[in-house]
Amino acid sequence: MGFVLPLPEILPPIYIGVRMTCERNRRWGYIMDLSNKVAIVTGSARGIGRAIALKLAEVGADIVVNDIPSAAEALENTAGEIRALKRKALAVTADVSSAPDVARLIDTAAKEMGRIDILVNNAGVTRDQLLMRMTDEEWDTVLNIDLKSAFLCTRAVLRHMMKQRWGRIVSIASVVGIMGNAGQANYAAAKAGIIGLTKSIAKEVGSRGITANAIAPGFIETKMTEQLDEKQRQALTQRIPLGSIGTPGDVAEAVAFLVSEEARYITGQVLGVDGGMGLG
Ligand SMILES: NC(=O)c1ccc[n+]([C@@H]2O[C@H](COP(=O)([O-])OP(=O)(O)OC[C@H]3O[C@@H](n4cnc5c(N)ncnc54)[C@H](O)[C@@H]3O)[C@@H](O)[C@H]2O)c1
Repeated sequence: MGFVLPLPEILPPIYIGVRMTCERNRRWGYIMDLSNKVAIVTGSARGIGRAIALKLAEVGADIVVNDIPSAAEALENTAGEIRALKRKALAVTADVSSAPDVARLIDTAAKEMGRIDILVNNAGVTRDQLLMRMTDEEWDTVLNIDLKSAFLCTRAVLRHMMKQRWGRIVSIASVVGIMGNAGQANYAAAKAGIIGLTKSIAKEVGSRGITANAIAPGFIETKMTEQLDEKQRQALTQRIPLGSIGTPGDVAEAVAFLVSEEARYITGQVLGVDGGMGLG
């Protein structure tokens, strides 16, 4: 969403200042400026979460990155990339489906960073199976990590946001939460739950200057989707009006807008980032 004038490579001096301004705008966000804001992004060791963390840092925010302990090394890499953008980064390993872990994550974030302005509920997993064969464990794992985590993290950050009378909550749902998908009843239920949760939060805390929105990505190129074979990919791509698979960066751009000051009057919405896939 940055704004860059298409300037030639060899520039007369008068254009250099213009170009520097444009470069700065591109790097720090022409519209969006999250300077002095602190964002927590769950599940940000890789994939969409990592892209969101880096994008928010690029437009000025300091970031708390989070993932499970087994992803600690990748999480430190994300934190390092944020520091390279000259923003503060704090890496906290925690399982966001566990209430004690979430309490530790949010308390550490508030203590070390001084404030919490933005929460992005991104952590998620799949355990695909036809409903008749789905185990209790497959159901519980997905509901806990993809839905309960958003409840736990949101409840914990609201205390901080209410005091500030400013906050932004964005939760990553899925086109599947709107349309359903054979073999993904657990995942679709969790993502539909994210949408209901988001709308309810929006109604509860709107008067405190806090917005809550959901993003429903379609088919995005990450580890989560890499197990699909070529035939499945082609079949899926055919259902996308824009004709290609999305990137984590496509989702990150939408998040950056929804957490910005400019999105102050948008709450309780579900934004599809799916190349039109959700149109059916
Ligand atoms: N990739 C897609 O096509 C797609 C489409 C729609 C929605 N989404 C959603 O986007 C989000 C990110 O997915 P992705 O594609 O980047 O997947 P990914 O598997 O690459 O990344 C998910 C991250 O979440 C972390 N995580 C898992 N359980 C966790 C827990 N209990 N606590 C903390 N972190 C945990 C993982 O370790 C991983 O780093 C998920 O909520 C997913 O459901 C993805």
